[in-house]
Amino acid sequence: MRRALCPGTFDPMTNGHLDVIARASAIFDELVVAVAVSPDKGGGPLFTVDERVDMVSRATSCYPNVSVRPFDSLLVDLAKELDAPVIVKGLRAVTDFEREFQMAQLNYRLDDAIETMFIVAVPECMYLSSSAVKEIAGYGGSVAGLVPAEVSGRLMERLGQRRQGRT
Ligand code: PNS
Repeated sequence: MRRALCPGTFDPMTNGHLDVIARASAIFDELVVAVAVSPDKGGGPLFTVDERVDMVSRATSCYPNVSVRPFDSLLVDLAKELDAPVIVKGLRAVTDFEREFQMAQLNYRLDDAIETMFIVAVPECMYLSSSAVKEIAGYGGSVAGLVPAEVSGRLMERLGQRRQGRT
């Protein structure tokens, strides 16, 4: 049984994340998507970890070997606990490389039994990021085709509430 872990903040999940999850699920017997609580990231996430887990679960429900869970620990500890010795991450452009390289090296330093593998984004997802999607939606732009259907409604709703709070 080959089990892998696909970690991230997923605030919110984009079609880029979904593409990486779909491709990784075709390689491994089981893929656990691990949603980081990440309370400090960029001033705090827009969605609670439960909301993010729910959106990722709905968007990946068509992949029977994918499960989704929150985590608030070292990634290598979770990998060990779940007996998932491979961490799968998506790589978009060179801009991702430095951070991803650092995280992969650190994780290897923490536990050399855990390997990190990268799936290179498809060209149509190269420019996609959760923060860009939030910025577009925050100014009332359309995110159709950039995020799963399960995300777009909730994103518009959450950012609409924020816009109303500002005016
Ligand atoms: O969506 P992101 O920002 O690429 O996700 C980053 C994440 C959650 C994978 C990373 O911050 C992480 O692994 N956090 C858990 C804490 C940890 O293990 N840190 C040490 C390695 S950097």
